[in-house]
Amino acid sequence: MGAAEAIDLDIATARVFQPLLQPSRYKGAYGGRGSGKSHFFGGLVVDRCIAEPGLRVVCIREVQKSLKESAKKLIEDKIQEYGVGHLFKVLDNEIRTPGGGLIIFQGMQDHTSESIKSLEGFDVAWVEEAQTISKRSLQLLRPTIRADGSELWFSWNPRHESDPVDVLLRTNLPSDAIVVAANWNNNPWFPAVLEQERQDCLRDEPEQYDHVWDGGYVTVAEGAYFAQKLIIARQEGRIGNVGRDELQQVKLFCDIGGTGARSDAFSIWAVQFIGKEIRVINYYEAVGQPIDEHLGWMWSNRYSPERSKIYLPHDGTTNDRVFAVSYESQFREAGYDVETVKNQGTGAATMRIEGVRNVFSRCWFDEANCHAGLKALGWYHPKIDEARGVTLGPDHDWASHGADSFGLMAITYREPTTNHQRSRQRRSAPDWRA
Ligand SMILES: Nc1ncnc2c1ncn2[C@@H]1O[C@H](COP(=O)(O)OP(=O)(O)OP(=O)(O)O)[C@@H](O)[C@H]1O
Ligand SMILES: [Mg+2]
Repeated sequence: MGAAEAIDLDIATARVFQPLLQPSRYKGAYGGRGSGKSHFFGGLVVDRCIAEPGLRVVCIREVQKSLKESAKKLIEDKIQEYGVGHLFKVLDNEIRTPGGGLIIFQGMQDHTSESIKSLEGFDVAWVEEAQTISKRSLQLLRPTIRADGSELWFSWNPRHESDPVDVLLRTNLPSDAIVVAANWNNNPWFPAVLEQERQDCLRDEPEQYDHVWDGGYVTVAEGAYFAQKLIIARQEGRIGNVGRDELQQVKLFCDIGGTGARSDAFSIWAVQFIGKEIRVINYYEAVGQPIDEHLGWMWSNRYSPERSKIYLPHDGTTNDRVFAVSYESQFREAGYDVETVKNQGTGAATMRIEGVRNVFSRCWFDEANCHAGLKALGWYHPKIDEARGVTLGPDHDWASHGADSFGLMAITYREPTTNHQRSRQRRSAPDWRA
């Protein structure tokens, strides 16, 4: 205890983290790569251990297979950097701190509701890489860290709005919480090597940049097929306010999801082929709904049988055929002109992806109506076998239905033959914002 009191640490703190120096039950720092989050909390651990002899700190990750994955090395480096090595005793799996205190390193997945009780006396729990922390882990941890004045710290690079740490510290904040957003440009010590990485990302993977460096949520999966095309569409002002040409037919491209609770989503893109442009005016998706639901959407958008045509896929599989035939007849009964596109089969997915790539530069999207569909197009990505480093074709997830129906549009697309009347209509067509 005694030796510690004589120490007067002069630690520089980046301005962005200064609010986190005051006491608070919950403290959070989130943001992109290299913003100094780990260094800040690592330094704060050392600082606090000296200022409050006997302090007990647990450094937590969701998964910690070995101490190499923990913050131990970082904290050791901080101890050296501050020149306080004589106050700490670094052991194999823990660090003894002034006044009989302790820093330990644990993975939440190794804990049960019984074993977590061993953490009850701890004053600080620092959850590093908290974007991966599970709901269960948070539920175990929060009531366990219960010592007087105890604090829970979280540092993370956001992935999804729905991740438990984001829900806790960005959506439903507890009353006693201080949360800061930090990015590379808030880090006064941002190193040259990372600056190089940042530039490379900007140049080679612009679709990943916002997430990796600016702390944005993931909107694009690795290897996403159309991500680049979407960025270009946005840059060219082709995602905005796209009106419907009332004089032209609306084509409704569907992906059949089946019915019942376990079925896939039924998706529809409403598109108009006008001149050289593909006007993508609306998107619809529903899971496990009867056909009436889909028809209801069409009617409410005035995609009536006189003004529209329905396109259905037919992959050649029996199951699909059964669905297709029944949808076809039901849509016909409702008065629609229906075309079942049969040219698929093996390699169909690849064909659709190629088709989409070929026509993408002609597409104009209505952003408000197509919001969910655009998200699906941006996310649609290959399944990757990490171990073998091979691509296994498109991943079948929430995004694949919207991507499939869009692909159906692409392989069906033919540029309309222009005649005098058409080009006149085109000039009088409603405009949209650039
Ligand atoms: N307080 C500091 N003192 C000295 N160097 C620092 C400090 N904070 C950050 N740095 C430098 O900035 C780099 C990035 O910081 P840090 O690793 O803490 O960022 P991060 O936000 O945790 O990034 P990641 O998202 O990659 O985990 C460090 O490797 C270090 O070189
Ligand atoms: Mg870090």
